[in-house]
Amino acid sequence: MLKKHTALEKNSILMLIFVVITISIGGIIEIVPLFRMETTIEPVKGVRPYTPLELAGYNVYLREGCYNCHSQQVRPLRDEVERYGHYSLAAESMYDHPFQWGSKRTGPDLARVGGKYSDLWHVQHMTRPQDVVPESIMPAYAHLAKKGVNLADIGRDLEALRMVGVPYTDEQIANAYNDAMAQAQDESDYHDGLAERYSKVNMRNFDGNANTTELDALIAYLQVLGTMAELKDYTHDGTKRSGE
Ligand code: HEC
Repeated sequence: MLKKHTALEKNSILMLIFVVITISIGGIIEIVPLFRMETTIEPVKGVRPYTPLELAGYNVYLREGCYNCHSQQVRPLRDEVERYGHYSLAAESMYDHPFQWGSKRTGPDLARVGGKYSDLWHVQHMTRPQDVVPESIMPAYAHLAKKGVNLADIGRDLEALRMVGVPYTDEQIANAYNDAMAQAQDESDYHDGLAERYSKVNMRNFDGNANTTELDALIAYLQVLGTMAELKDYTHDGTKRSGE
């Protein structure tokens, strides 16, 4: 046995082949089970796929590269939890393709920014960040308020996400355009249907402007971030839930 090993140690190519085989076995045993999502992600009550308008906002977020300065993952460390709220759970980003965890924080983490500010604050902040945070170095995104949100392919977006495992129903896909338009309005005949298709949806004119703009979509997205999961002992306005 020892002699055979000498042969192995003296021949680097042979050694390499055996190293690769050994590591592959370990790798397969460790990694393959992780691809079976249901075994790695504990379901959390309340987490649902994005509504079409929120998804359009998520697309704007990606296009504008907000992730270059903002992470979306509250780490389970004391300073983070005190600053941002309950640490992020895997289930909270299970419908993000691609996920936005990130590690670059020029600005604060946004995983729990939903409900932290009013819509008006977001409108002012996106238009000119220094108006609400004088020392801010965040660039202005005033153009988002001027551009109608592109919903031409939103149904197909939902379909594509369904292919990678987001459980959108046929009904949600068929109604995607109308749901998106309705969510950004204070009143609409579509609101009841939208509420049936998605739980706990914010429906209102987010940017205060009659047109459904990219800013409406982005604010709808920001306002839902981190608010879906129903977490024990934690409410999303930062107060401790008592007696549970
Ligand atoms: C160049 C880096 C940079 C980019 C790009 C950037 N931000 Fe920021 N952001 C910051 C900084 C710095 C702050 C903290 C100061 C402030 O509130 O303006 C901030 C703050 C924020 C806040 C307030 C967070 C809080 O909890 O107070 C939100 C919301 C936000 N950004 C959203 C966005 C969105 C959406 C985009 C993309 C459209 C974006 N940011 C792009 C740097 C950036």
